[in-house]
Amino acid sequence: MDDIPGKITWNDCVTGSYRRLSVRLERSLGRVSPGQFVMVKIPDRDVFLRRPFSIYDSRGRTLTIVYRVVGKGTDALSAAARGTPLMVLGPLGRGFTPGKATTPIVVAGGIGYAGVRMLLKRLDHRATLFFGATGKDELRLAEDLGATRVLASTMDGSFGFAGDVVSLLGHHLDDYRDKKPEVFACGPSGMVRSLKALLEPGRIPCQVSVEERMACGMGLCFGCVVATADETNPYKRVCKEGPVFSLWDLSL
Ligand SMILES: Cc1cc2nc3c(=O)[nH]c(=O)nc-3n(C[C@H](O)[C@H](O)[C@H](O)COP(=O)(O)OP(=O)(O)OC[C@H]3O[C@@H](n4cnc5c(N)ncnc54)[C@H](O)[C@@H]3O)c2cc1C
Ligand code: FES
Repeated sequence: MDDIPGKITWNDCVTGSYRRLSVRLERSLGRVSPGQFVMVKIPDRDVFLRRPFSIYDSRGRTLTIVYRVVGKGTDALSAAARGTPLMVLGPLGRGFTPGKATTPIVVAGGIGYAGVRMLLKRLDHRATLFFGATGKDELRLAEDLGATRVLASTMDGSFGFAGDVVSLLGHHLDDYRDKKPEVFACGPSGMVRSLKALLEPGRIPCQVSVEERMACGMGLCFGCVVATADETNPYKRVCKEGPVFSLWDLSL
C-alpha cells in the first residue's frame, strides 16, 4: 500500500485542543469501513513516525480526521496551514461490524467520538450515542449527528449526567434487556475496563476500538500488540487484527 499525497483544505479548532482537518487527496481512499484509520505523515522534519487517526469522514477525494493536540506530532499538525502537502496511508485495520437484528448502543469517551462517528452515520440514527466528556464544551465534537439520540455525561457536571459515561450507561442498560443490545465503544483504556465490568454479568456483545502506539501501521513491526484471550495466538496487532476487537477477546 502506498501513501496518497494530498493538500490540507481545512485545519481548524473545533473546541479547546480538538481540531478538524480535511485533506483533498490525489485519489479517493476507496471503500472505508467505520472504525478504520489512516497513518498521517506529519509535515515536520522532526516528527519521523506517521501517526494513526480514525477516519472521521471520507467522501470522494476528501478525507476528514478530528484530532486532539497531545504532543509533538499533533502540535506540528495543528500548525500546518491550508494548502500544506500531506501524505496519508490507508484505509487501515479492521473496523466495526454491526449485526442486522440488534439494537446498537455506541459509547464514546472524548476524542473516542472520532472513532465511532462513521459508524453512527452508517447506522443512520438507529443507535443511541452515550457520550462522555470532561465538560460541556467537549460536547461540541458530536454536534453534527442530526437526529441520532445522544445521552451525555460530563465529569464536571456542566451538562447532562454528572460522572463518567459508563455509569450513565449503567443507569439505562435495563431499558435494552429485551432488545438484543450490541455495544460499540471507543475511548480511553479506563473507560474500556469499566465497560467490561458493567457488561460482564450479561456478556452483552461489545466491539471496542483499541488505541496503542504505532510505528508502521501495517502489521510489520509488531510494535502495537495487545494481549487477547486466544490461547494459541495471544498477541494481536492493533493495526492489523484491530483496532476493533470483541471486548470479550481482550485480556484487560
Ligand atoms: C487506531 C487509532 C486511531 C486513533 N484515532 C485518533 C483520532 O481520531 N484522533 C486523535 O486525536 N487521536 C487518535 N489516536 C491517537 C493518536 O494517534 C495520538 O494521540 C497521536 O499519535 C499522538 O501523537 P503526538 O506526537 O502528538 O503525541 P506524542 O508526543 O507521541 O505523545 C504525547 C502523549 O500522548 C500519548 N499517546 C501517543 N499516542 C497514543 C496512542 N495511540 N494512544 C494513547 N495515547 C497516546 C503518549 O503516551 C503521550 O502521553 C488514534 C490512535 C490509534 C491507535
Ligand atoms: S504498528 Fe507495526 S505492526 Fe502494528
